[in-house]
Amino acid sequence: MAGRVEGKIALVTGGANGMGRSHAMLLAREGATLIVTDRDEEAGQAVIDEINRQGGQARFIVHDVASAEDWGRISEQTLSTFGHLDILVNNAGILLFSAVQDTGDEDFARTLDVNVKGVFYGTKYMLPALKASGKASIVNVSSIYGLIGAPMVAAYQASKGAVRLLTKSTAVDYAQFRIRVNSIHPGVIRTNMTKDLLASADMENRLLSTTLLGRAAEPEEVSYAVLFLASDEASYITGAEIVVDGGYTTL
Ligand SMILES: NC(=O)c1ccc[n+]([C@@H]2O[C@H](COP(=O)([O-])OP(=O)(O)OC[C@H]3O[C@@H](n4cnc5c(N)ncnc54)[C@H](O)[C@@H]3O)[C@@H](O)[C@H]2O)c1
Repeated sequence: MAGRVEGKIALVTGGANGMGRSHAMLLAREGATLIVTDRDEEAGQAVIDEINRQGGQARFIVHDVASAEDWGRISEQTLSTFGHLDILVNNAGILLFSAVQDTGDEDFARTLDVNVKGVFYGTKYMLPALKASGKASIVNVSSIYGLIGAPMVAAYQASKGAVRLLTKSTAVDYAQFRIRVNSIHPGVIRTNMTKDLLASADMENRLLSTTLLGRAAEPEEVSYAVLFLASDEASYITGAEIVVDGGYTTL
């Protein structure tokens, strides 16, 4: 039986760990050829080794999503190797715990550079390859913190709110090239990003008391939403947002 993204070329940023790793593994299992990028070379190499061992096809490229130069290189490599790109998952992100008054200018700028400029560059530099697909899908990773307020995450919220509307703007501008663009908004997911938060029983209880399903999620539970948006099953969905939060934002 053919996979749900059989024969497609997919790029996942921040694919070395956490949800990015999970998205890359699932897309590969469903038949896509993967370009995994990340700053973490060792973990990124391990991900593609695992995909290739399981019979998939993957390559790894060291990449800082906040670097235009890096994106230029990846765009050229993608076009020269594959001639096009079908799926772009703008997943890489960083989290800063801090209220406005305690957030330094540099920390604020870096958070926006990685979380927003990373998505902007990804879209801009991969556009030629995405246009060449004739049927491409961009999945931008925002957060529930791009939808509702929360304490001590000012820069992160500014960045994830921006990703939400950058997604819609991109959907409007590039529908003419048959590029669909959607955002996903995960809730509390067990990754390195939330490891310390979830290690404190107090914090875990506070976070999960407002989650209807009463638990944090595993990365793969978000990957299935990414897979759906990336696949032709979502052929009439663009400019939309899928919330994967166990009901956190429902109450
Ligand atoms: N974990 C959660 O609960 C949660 C909830 C909502 C949204 N998100 C978002 O999901 C995405 C993935 O988060 P995660 O929880 O898997 O985090 P993670 O920290 O486990 O993994 C993030 C990956 O991104 C990479 N990365 C960081 N900065 C980078 C850069 N400048 N260039 C390239 N790669 C870079 C890291 O090396 C790492 O491999 C992020 O955008 C995050 O904001 C996470």
